[in-house]
Order: sequence, then C-alpha cells, then structure tokens
Amino acid sequence: MTANPLETEFTKTFGIKYPIVSAPMFLVSDVGMVCATGEAGGLGAFPALNFRPIEKYRKAIQDIKAKTDAPFGINIIVQKSNKYQHQQLEIALEEKVPLLITSLGSPRGVIEKAHQVGTKVYCDVVGLEHAKKVADLGADGLVAVSSGAGGHAGDTSQFALIPHLKRNLDLPILAAGSIVDGTGMLAALALGASGIYMGTRFIASKESPSDLAYKEAIVNALPEDIVNTDRVDGFPGNFILTESLKKLGVKPGVFESVISQSKKAKRYLSMFRAGRALLGSPEGKASYKTIFSAGHGVGLIDEILSIDEIIQLTMNQYYEKRNGLPG
Ligand SMILES: Cc1cc2nc3c(=O)[nH]c(=O)nc-3n(C[C@H](O)[C@H](O)[C@H](O)COP(=O)(O)O)c2cc1C
Repeated sequence: MTANPLETEFTKTFGIKYPIVSAPMFLVSDVGMVCATGEAGGLGAFPALNFRPIEKYRKAIQDIKAKTDAPFGINIIVQKSNKYQHQQLEIALEEKVPLLITSLGSPRGVIEKAHQVGTKVYCDVVGLEHAKKVADLGADGLVAVSSGAGGHAGDTSQFALIPHLKRNLDLPILAAGSIVDGTGMLAALALGASGIYMGTRFIASKESPSDLAYKEAIVNALPEDIVNTDRVDGFPGNFILTESLKKLGVKPGVFESVISQSKKAKRYLSMFRAGRALLGSPEGKASYKTIFSAGHGVGLIDEILSIDEIIQLTMNQYYEKRNGLPG
C-alpha cells in the first residue's frame, strides 16, 4: 500500500509528498537518481561538480526537467577551490532550479542572486556558528550534517545538533547523517527536523550508478567498519574500511605528521588531496571510485532496493514506529 503523504515545512515549501531528500553525492548522484526520487515523492539533489564540462551540467538540468515535473536541488561548493561555482550558479538560476544547497564557504552571493528568481537556498552546517551566519544572510533552511554522515561529516551528534540549532534559529532543518529508514526519520523529526537528507541508503539503490562492489560493501558493512580519516582527500570523512583503504592507511604517515606541524603546509597537502579526489588521479581513477564513503547507518541497510521501494519502506516504517511509541 502506498504510504500516506506527510506534511512538514519542507514538503509544503516544495509541494512534495514526503520529506525525504536523496542527498547530493560526488560521483554518485545522477539524472536517473534525481528523477526517480522526485517521481517517488521525495526531492532529488546532485552536486554541480558531477557534470563537467559545464555544457554537460546544463544538459543534466534540462534532462531532469524534461523527465519529471518534480522539484529538485543542486549542491554548489561555494569555496575558492571550486572555480566553476559562478557558472554553476548562473546556469542553475537561468534554468530556474527550485533548490540550491551550498557547502563549505559563504553562501552570500548565492542567496542574493537566488532570491531574485525565487530559488530557495539551504546551507550545509555542522554547528551553530556557521548556521547563524547563513541565517543572517537569508538562508531558507539548513542541512544539519552530523557526525555519522557519509562524506565529510560534522563532529556533533544529531541528537545534540538539531535541537541546538532549532533552539537558536527559526529555520527548517534537514537532518543529514546515519538516517537510512523510518526509525531514523521519526527520531529526526522528533528532534525538530523538517525532513531527512539520506545519502548512503540511496547509494545502495537499483538506480544508483555506483559499482556493484560499492553497493555490496554498504549492504555488508557494520557501523564498526566505518572509519573517519582525512587520508583520502585531506578533509575528515567517513569511509568503509575496505582493503583499498587499509592499503592507503587511515592514520597519518611520518611525512604527514611532520608536514602537519605547519599550518600552511597542511593546507597545501589538503588542497592537493581534495583536488586529486575531485578531479581524479593521474590514472583517471578518482579516489571515491575505489574507496567507499558511507555513513554510520550502513548496519541497517540489508538489500539493494529501488528508490521508490526505499522511500515507501521508510514512510511505512515511520508511521508504524510512530504508532508503536510507548504511552
Ligand atoms: C559518496 C558520498 C559523496 C558525497 N558528496 C557530497 C557532495 O559532493 N556535496 C555535499 O554537499 N555532500 C556530499 N556528501 C554528503 C551527503 O550529501 C549527505 O550529507 C550524507 O550522505 C548524509 O549522510 P548519510 O550518508 O549517512 O545518509 C556525500 C556523501 C557521500 C556518501
């Protein structure tokens, strides 16, 4: 049976059925995933950097619009390292993309321009300080990235982060980190979130373009298999401890320990690694292709399902768990 719709501040803003976002994921989220999420009643998002050169990016947006009327979102990294950010913004606004999600830097320019054409802007935050800044700049909502998230996670537990943000700021929040089912969704909404931002769960979907090895690694992994390391791209992120990652090592080597003593040298090393991960190594294989990022929720993912099945299962579990709460 199709799950009943669930209305929150987030679903009302975008006119969608369920408060579920398939989170933007580097080298994973593609047109198919975004459309499948929208058609299933959620909201699909992708990182602008997944489509290069820029013509492919505009084409991806147009393809999505041709395939579905559902709203969708684009993640733009608003940091100097992303030299395409201005073009990515201009094209998104020309194409009237409903939602932009900023990460890493200041969203000032994005918010000002987006609001002129009615595009909403949500901003990734890992703590109150940055959240206050983006709220002052006029952000429409926050993505609270907690410690258990896939990709570059924050340091704070969801249980502390969401109520903390909620108590200090009056903005809708999407909860990101370790949420893979209806139980996690119920908890996130109880904490004050208006929706969930799931990444890892959707990698192990039928529509995801990720290799079967990546999907199976997620299905087989336990939370204890997730390690937080900055060895992959220079920023602390959560990864499955696979043989490839063991080879790379999760602890800093002697060279890095020495380099890390100097802030400047450490920054250069991080930038080098981030560039390698984003643009691919000389052999043309990006790190994220052979080393698998995933959140702590892996232990609850038992099979590869379609995006529609994942959303229906999540919603049905949500209602079932909500009705089963004590007292
Ligand atoms: C493989 C992978 C790539 C990611 N790439 C991005 C990205 O390019 N931009 C971004 O803002 N977040 C990125 N994230 C973070 C997700 O958008 C989201 O915050 C996270 O997956 C939520 O945690 P979960 O994986 O535990 O559900 C990535 C996450 C993963 C697992």
